[in-house]
Amino acid sequence: MKQLAELLTEELENAFEKAGYSGEYAKVTLSNRPDLCEYQCNGAMAGAKAYKKAPFMIAQDVVDRLGESVCIESAQMVKPGFINITLKKSFVADYLNQMQADERLGAAAKERRKILMDYGGPNVAKPLHVGHLRSAVIGESIKRTARFLGHEVISDVHLGDWGYQMGLIITELKKRKPELPYFDETFTGKYPEEAPFTISELEEIYPTASAYAKEHADYKEEALHATFLLQNGHRGYRAIWDHIMRISVEDLKKNYGKLDVTFDLWKGESDAQKYIPDMVEKMKKDGYAHLDDGALVVDVKEETDTKEIPPCMILKSDGAALYDTTDLATLVEREEQYKPDEIIYIVDKRQELHFIQVFRCAKKTGIVGEDTKLTFLGFGTMNGKDGKPFKTRDGGVMRLENLIREIDEEMYKKIAENRTVSEEEGRRTAEIVGLSALKYGDLSNQASKDYIFDVDRFTSFEGNTGPYILYTIVRIKSILAKYEEMGGSLEGLKVKEAVTDCEKALMLENAKFNSVIENAHEELAPHKICAYIYDLANTFNRFYHGVKIIGEENEETRKGYIALLLVTKRILETSIELLGFEAPERM
Ligand code: ARG
Repeated sequence: MKQLAELLTEELENAFEKAGYSGEYAKVTLSNRPDLCEYQCNGAMAGAKAYKKAPFMIAQDVVDRLGESVCIESAQMVKPGFINITLKKSFVADYLNQMQADERLGAAAKERRKILMDYGGPNVAKPLHVGHLRSAVIGESIKRTARFLGHEVISDVHLGDWGYQMGLIITELKKRKPELPYFDETFTGKYPEEAPFTISELEEIYPTASAYAKEHADYKEEALHATFLLQNGHRGYRAIWDHIMRISVEDLKKNYGKLDVTFDLWKGESDAQKYIPDMVEKMKKDGYAHLDDGALVVDVKEETDTKEIPPCMILKSDGAALYDTTDLATLVEREEQYKPDEIIYIVDKRQELHFIQVFRCAKKTGIVGEDTKLTFLGFGTMNGKDGKPFKTRDGGVMRLENLIREIDEEMYKKIAENRTVSEEEGRRTAEIVGLSALKYGDLSNQASKDYIFDVDRFTSFEGNTGPYILYTIVRIKSILAKYEEMGGSLEGLKVKEAVTDCEKALMLENAKFNSVIENAHEELAPHKICAYIYDLANTFNRFYHGVKIIGEENEETRKGYIALLLVTKRILETSIELLGFEAPERM
């Protein structure tokens, strides 16, 4: 469906042309003075220079040519040259009814594209911590939005599963249980099915080994060597690696499940390794890679750079692959297997330079074609109330699980304060609402900015929060339920011409849905969806306080109100689904 502003622009284009001006000046936008009008066109100001005419004269010419219109109730020239537009009530009601009839509420992608998304990016065997929260939450929302609009999206968790942490775990395990067959170089039999550790042991082994290696050079040396052996096919170490992967991935899936975050692909850095040798050969053969101080590099600086962009590192002097190498090889794999139109990476913004280097190198060496779009969405840090990166009370890195538990606990307290619920229902509701608090608290900020994680504020039922949005949805649900209890039917209702101002305001707010969602997708900006539903919830609550809905005496008007409630509810519910959470039945 065309956006409202597009339909208005088309009408104005006609009038501009009839008056002898170019239609390119006809762009209509939302009003930035909602007290004066609903939409506006500022094109006369831009046209003044070209036509050497005062803007108000152009605007007046256009307004005079507008004539009979399906959508415009009134258009007014306002000096110095604005055109202020008010919409016909019948047109707005029709528009909402058309939205209701559409499976995507009038939103859709102009052309369907294949998008691969790289987000999550946890490191295997290290517990998921809050640093990985943002990537998962933002990525999930962007994925859902793109899919909703009709794009084909493939999401890949891109595990960090091939590094030094694996060598550390192997070394520590060898120290603790040297008798295991994985360490017997003469062993040729079948390795045990069962892992020699549980997930909680694994989570303890890594930090212990990591700390120990920092203090003991020989131990570190051994871990580095174990990493090297693993990467070069050591049979026993590979078997340990398989155990680590199986146990960790199961645990990761459980944790992401709690966040309602899913991935189509559970690939990792290890999957890209087999593409490295050919990739490197080709870079050498084509003359892109050269030796610099023993290391193999590809220059990626450009003349227009304002800051120094160092070369992309392909191989260290000892022949080892690096982070750059793995990401490039992953691109080789992705091109070969999926041929996406675009790849979007959602990673901490401190990795921006790495991605600039990788993208340039991939384009330069032909790993990806000219028309494959590579996008980096860098996000800021989640800080504590002290403005420093979020930590636990004793200063450690907060584990995601504990963070979720803390929010759910706070949510439960608030719910139990508000009304009497059974412990069981209260806990279940707290989980649903808690997830909204967590995700909305994150997504309502522009991704690239740092933000302060504030449990108290995020879990509040008032203000710009997830729980406030859910509270509004629950309020609508309860009005609809009451209407049905009183014998009303929710079937076949149509939105009618607005009778009151607060009703028209609510209709206009609903009608923005497609433009907001399409724009949030283009700009990869879930915060725009949050800002929109916050406005929508406020506009709804003004309507709710401004009219009697169920108490409305005129049956037709009452039915129109209920139809409007149904659209509002569907838009709010669809929007929160795109953000990655849902509403409970009661709160
Ligand atoms: N595992 C990495 C980290 O924790 C993030 C991976 C991001 N994705 C990528 N393709 N490099 O820093």
